[in-house]
Amino acid sequence: MSIACDILVFGGTGDLALHKLLPALYHLHRDGRLHADTRIIALARSKHNKADYRTLAERHCRVQIAKADFDLQCWQAFSDRLDYFAMDASQSADFARLARYLGSSEQRVRVYYLATAPDLFQGIAAHLKTAGLANARARIVLEKPIGHSLQSAQAINASLGGVFDEPQVFRIDHYLGKETVQNLMALRFANMLFEPIWRAAHIDHVQISVCETLGVENRGSYYEQAGAMRDMVQNHLLQLLCLVAMEPPVRFDAESVRNEKVKVLEALRPITGQDVRDKTVRGQYTAGEINGHPMAAYYFEKNVDNDSDTETFVAIEAQVENWRWAGVPFYLRTGKRLAEKTSEILIQFKAVPHALFAKGEANQLLIRLQPEERISLHLMAKNPGKGMQLEPVALDLNLATAFKQQRRWDAYERLLLDVIDGDSTLFMRRDEVEAAWRWIDPIIKGWQQHYQRPRPYPAGSNGPEQLRHLLERHGRQWMEPQT
Ligand code: BG6
Repeated sequence: MSIACDILVFGGTGDLALHKLLPALYHLHRDGRLHADTRIIALARSKHNKADYRTLAERHCRVQIAKADFDLQCWQAFSDRLDYFAMDASQSADFARLARYLGSSEQRVRVYYLATAPDLFQGIAAHLKTAGLANARARIVLEKPIGHSLQSAQAINASLGGVFDEPQVFRIDHYLGKETVQNLMALRFANMLFEPIWRAAHIDHVQISVCETLGVENRGSYYEQAGAMRDMVQNHLLQLLCLVAMEPPVRFDAESVRNEKVKVLEALRPITGQDVRDKTVRGQYTAGEINGHPMAAYYFEKNVDNDSDTETFVAIEAQVENWRWAGVPFYLRTGKRLAEKTSEILIQFKAVPHALFAKGEANQLLIRLQPEERISLHLMAKNPGKGMQLEPVALDLNLATAFKQQRRWDAYERLLLDVIDGDSTLFMRRDEVEAAWRWIDPIIKGWQQHYQRPRPYPAGSNGPEQLRHLLERHGRQWMEPQT
């Protein structure tokens, strides 16, 4: 059971609050993980009252929560925790009203969840301070991306740093809350098997793919500013890369884990000049079809410019320049409106040094995050019958089946509980966010300098044609999305 707290959600009527945060809090409530005195207060500009907000929340949560998990009696008890406070987050007078409304319980932990546009982060932090709402027991939670460049991220971090101490700041990357992502650490650091071969001497390359069938939905205005690079690569893909490449931390605590991740980000070879052309591919989806449904081109999406050159797809060849990984490329790719929704990490081992048999394939370790959580190790085995006919076979571990008696937690459930408990291990530290931008910025700048427009790819395909060349020129191939 966690401590009693007030969870204040700025942007309380937005998609993130209604589709992710409230369902996650409902599950925590249902599992008895929230203290009986914990309150959830949604903050937004609309003039709702408490009853209106509870109705709105129920309507959305009924859609988001699996039918089998939605229990009316439980919902009613959960919604008793829900309150609504109408305010404008840009007005300091409204924060003074909020302070009066919350009362002066200095001992109570307050969690401020900023489910708002990043341009409000600095203002909200400053207003909280002026209104006396940022005491030492407060926590502030920010959604990625933090800023849109190194400079803007530094400005946000500096403003927050003027109000809160670093351990009070929780920068969310929801990929770190996914079970399989955490399992990656268990796989690497709780098993003796992999560590000795987890290095350049034995690994040929790594592929990290996060492919989506979704388009930009109702987020056209945000996405036009972000693109796939800021929306996905700067955070989710680089976090996955860090977990694959980091050294074993001394302890499993926030500082030790994040120290190791920062070292990986700092070891990334900068991609500048001609390398931007050679080692990156940008794409943008055009009209196509997914599962028999016609899909419009990106530039026809709501709030998207007709002549937009925002990328909805990125692939990058990255290098981690340290002893463990020298010469091992990390291929990253992510895109919207692709053929399949899959998130996978492939560790491609080297071939055996001396081939005894006619047919041999190098081992592969596939770590699948979505749609199902699976880890499979591909080994060569002999086909039954005469002769040494070899075939790759998979040692398959399906985590949902292995732990079938347990409900699979959504990433936000785990992360919200960590915020309440004050555990920042699975959150991005200030220097981590800035190191990621330091590597990303020159690539974006290179695209602008070379006026590298995104290559078109039809919705429902695997990305632009140029994607293949990134690997083929080194005699490698992308793994086919597994179904
Ligand atoms: C979010 C991005 O962080 O992650 C979205 O802003 C993307 O554009 C989403 O669709 C993907 O998350 P998941 O958990 O569905 O892989």
